[in-house]
Amino acid sequence: MTLETRPTPGDTDWFVHDRFGLFIHWGTYALAARHEWVKSKEQMSNEQYQKYFDHFDPDLYDPEQWAEAAASAGMKYFVVTTKHHEGFCLWDSDLTDYKATNTPAGRDLLAPMVEAFRARGLKVGFYHSLLDWHHPDYTVDQFHPMREDEDYIARDEERDLDHYVDYLHGQTRELLTRFGKVDIMWFDFSVAPSERFPGKGKDVWRSEELIEMVRDLQPGILINDRLQIDQDIKTPEQTVPREWVRVDGEPVIWEACHTFSGSWGYYRDEESWKSVDQLVKLLIECASKGGNLLLNVGPTGRGEFDHRALDRLAGVGRWMKRHSRSIYGCTQAPEEFDCPRDCRYTYNPETGRLYLHVFSWPFRHLWLRGMAGRVRYAQLLNDASEVGMKGAEEGDDLRLELPVKKPPVTVPVIELFLRG
Ligand code: GLC
Repeated sequence: MTLETRPTPGDTDWFVHDRFGLFIHWGTYALAARHEWVKSKEQMSNEQYQKYFDHFDPDLYDPEQWAEAAASAGMKYFVVTTKHHEGFCLWDSDLTDYKATNTPAGRDLLAPMVEAFRARGLKVGFYHSLLDWHHPDYTVDQFHPMREDEDYIARDEERDLDHYVDYLHGQTRELLTRFGKVDIMWFDFSVAPSERFPGKGKDVWRSEELIEMVRDLQPGILINDRLQIDQDIKTPEQTVPREWVRVDGEPVIWEACHTFSGSWGYYRDEESWKSVDQLVKLLIECASKGGNLLLNVGPTGRGEFDHRALDRLAGVGRWMKRHSRSIYGCTQAPEEFDCPRDCRYTYNPETGRLYLHVFSWPFRHLWLRGMAGRVRYAQLLNDASEVGMKGAEEGDDLRLELPVKKPPVTVPVIELFLRG
């Protein structure tokens, strides 16, 4: 039996089937090109930060190319930062002037993106920052860029945080009423209290009320867990959970989010890029534990995916073209299947097929413990070439006969058609 997850309010069927999505972090921080948190890290004032807004001119922005890159990589949904912590909005919000239309870009950047991705069949997700380092009523907390500026902090007395929260709710309403069907609402995040400053969590955000509105406007939508109230999706960040993620002992629906190189926004000088091999394994790893992978691109200030991202996406796409069958619709294999060393199983409960991902190609043989007599047919997924089992059954274990040469793919997968 595969694990049953705790039921949630949203429509999760498509989500657990599709497994693989694109995260997009795009804002004026792309111009600083040194982390989406640059305003906080370098404790910049609004005035110091303004230059990025004034020069934001993504003249090469072509959302159809973005959607094409995502779809060819095998991604089935995308989640874009409508607003990140810096407060800058990609769409033409009625509630602020701090938006793309007022930069040299001069237009709403979100609407054409939604349209382009939807046209390629991808589901639509909005990331929306609960934090806002630009809004005048947003009070100082441990992450605020002005956390060491005593004058700025003193003016917190005049700030009406609840007024900011009205703005947060109002913008969420805009996002959920202007762009057609939205499949995911991805809020980020709740701030822990520090020695000096109070935190911001579900009471401040009025999370319950916000969730109710979201569900009212977009029935079926999926909501993540960062409003401090668990909803549909748990979102471990930059890690690979050791096993299927659980809450109070119960398995839940989860999605790991990862960067290519460490930061989420475009970071020109970052050298810690993951390889295609690592990324493919990351995706397999997630699916093998019943989870999704949301893989992030930080487009440049010109509006392009940079060449390193395109290179990785293309590499993952080459693998997905021949192996997506071991990802889509697949989940953790039932416990009775004992996975050989250096391999990962996924399992499709619909077809009853088991997928053996071979991370390190061995010489000639792979032993599947306790599987004698249980496999009807075995083949390599990349070229549908038969994998021999004939005469290989000894005791309870099954011996697969592998070609000496590793198949020419990032991670070879053996598709096992089970009996019965
Ligand atoms: C974090 C960071 C952020 C990023 C997000 C993605 O909370 O604040 O920059 O957007 O995680 O999960």
